[in-house]
Amino acid sequence: MQSSPSVAVVVVAAGSGSRLGHARPKAFVEVAGRSILSRSMDSISGMSEPAAVVAVVPAALVSEAAAEFERLGVAAVVVAGGQTRQKSVAAGLRMLPAGTEIVLVHDAARAFTPPEVFDRVVAAVRSSGHGVIPGLPVTDTIKGVAADGTVRDTIDRSTLTAVQTPQGFPRAQLEEAYALDAADFTDDAALVREAGHPVLVVPGDARSFKITTADDLERAESLVRTTTPWSPRIGTGVDAHAYDPGAELWLAGLHWPGEAGLAGHSDGDAVAHAICDALLGAAGLGDIGGLFGTDDPALAGAHGDVFLSRTRRVLEQAGFRIGNVSVQLIGNRPRFAPRKAEADALLTSLLGAPVSVSATTTDGLGFTGRGEGVTAIATALVLSSPV
Ligand code: CTP
Ligand code: MG
Repeated sequence: MQSSPSVAVVVVAAGSGSRLGHARPKAFVEVAGRSILSRSMDSISGMSEPAAVVAVVPAALVSEAAAEFERLGVAAVVVAGGQTRQKSVAAGLRMLPAGTEIVLVHDAARAFTPPEVFDRVVAAVRSSGHGVIPGLPVTDTIKGVAADGTVRDTIDRSTLTAVQTPQGFPRAQLEEAYALDAADFTDDAALVREAGHPVLVVPGDARSFKITTADDLERAESLVRTTTPWSPRIGTGVDAHAYDPGAELWLAGLHWPGEAGLAGHSDGDAVAHAICDALLGAAGLGDIGGLFGTDDPALAGAHGDVFLSRTRRVLEQAGFRIGNVSVQLIGNRPRFAPRKAEADALLTSLLGAPVSVSATTTDGLGFTGRGEGVTAIATALVLSSPV
């Protein structure tokens, strides 16, 4: 049987978030589609050793939080918090599983704390036998200010550290400190110091900033946007048109003077149409017929650039970016190779992403081999926005 973890993390998430000023309690506010509470769990699941989790939430939201954890596959005990952070931590400590030797207390509001900080704190508690808190040097100049707004003094910042969470302690020390029921503090180290135990500082991390104000929430959103990879999706598009000797040839967005044209409601540009279908298919946005409609008079005789630009706009509005497109034209005419570079450059600039067109014949087989028309097959890669 696997032994139960010796480390437990109490995640406090029971505050109202008055400074954030959101309708919901702070830990339940979403950052890019996921609650602050659920994001704070990512740090714990990234730890190098497993840890038991006790989540402390507002009493009215215990079942909502439990349901969210169940959906996300997070194993956590959920318990109602108290009026102050300290009371919330105390409620969490009462739920520690048997076998817990080291307790970390973490603010859910520090939702982007890297797992390495948790590992660092655990390692230092284990090696020192003391309480350990992550901290960063203070960079601003700090003034003591009187109630009337006048500056009293300048505090030597070289002795100051701005502390973060998770704060880790040998279980017995933390429980002893909480049993004292001393004054209300905003962190656990204060209480452990009050109980007479030493506390050490290890390096914190800028990403452990506490989401406190609306500005912090914006910073969190942009952190997710810039660090979450876009997810790739691919699509295929095929189009075929018969030759129409009476028409002008437009293919791959280019005009081909002196060549037999292609029949179609628009200009019959099979390359452009196959690209549109591949892009729309990759993004799950339907197909060219659904987007443009063959009976749209504005599109009668329209060239490939109109279709491609509009498709690009539709994708971008739906949160996609185009990765690249590869197209193969199948047909006897026109001889494509001499104008391949020109076609690639035009299509690339229309889509804002690399497009490469190749051409082949079918050794006389099929309708393309018999010279009745052309086919184009496109493959597109699109990237779906994380936010
Ligand atoms: N916390 C808690 N129980 C409380 C108060 C705070 O569990 N009664 C938690 C918060 O949910 C947060 C952490 O302690 O994760 C740090 O507190 P803070 O950032 O001050 O959050 P709030 O108290 O919710 O915010 P505010 O002070 O702006 O109201
Ligand atoms: Mg608070």
